[in-house]
Amino acid sequence: MVLDAVEKVEAKRILEIGCGSGIVSLALACRNIEVVAVDISMEACRNTLTNFKRNRLQGVVHVVNGDLAAAFRDGVGFDIVVSNPPYLPVEQSSSEHLSWAAGKDASFSRRLLENVLPLMSDTCMLFLVQSSLSDLDGLKRTLEEKGFMVEEASCRSFFFEKIILFKIFRGPSSP
Ligand SMILES: C[S@@+](CC[C@H](N)C(=O)[O-])C[C@H]1O[C@@H](n2cnc3c(N)ncnc32)[C@H](O)[C@@H]1O
Repeated sequence: MVLDAVEKVEAKRILEIGCGSGIVSLALACRNIEVVAVDISMEACRNTLTNFKRNRLQGVVHVVNGDLAAAFRDGVGFDIVVSNPPYLPVEQSSSEHLSWAAGKDASFSRRLLENVLPLMSDTCMLFLVQSSLSDLDGLKRTLEEKGFMVEEASCRSFFFEKIILFKIFRGPSSP
């Protein structure tokens, strides 16, 4: 879903949060887009770098071992932010859970938004994967209260949940 969505975007510089193996960043860099790929796991960062080197794309990607968007100043200028973050409503009790557990109270998604929204210019778009098992109404409410618009870019149903890719951008009333 993420790959399908980013395949068509027009952008010069993209931030990916939670790059894992680097598959999304790699697809973007193949289109000659400058990518900043962040992951909190050093193993994931090494994996992303290895995959870029194997594909001879290391010149257009910057891999950052960090927490969400904490490494970047407000207004740093990304055209797009994309994230397939941990989204299941389960507590993170070990480092193994880092890739999928988002906290029972959606604390991970809230922290992600607190980090990312200030980086977004009027034209920046955030593509964010979420699950129907988490508090999507709460997430949408938080975004709308801050003046952001939320659209479903795509959605796939599995036997116990739906996976939704949201497209989030500043609305006319956003400060
Ligand atoms: C569901 S995986 C997605 C991997 C890859 N982007 C993909 O779509 O295949 C989530 C990734 O987020 C990373 N992650 C978890 N907490 C993070 C945080 N606080 N800051 C940055 N990355 C984080 C995990 O290490 C993991 O690689």
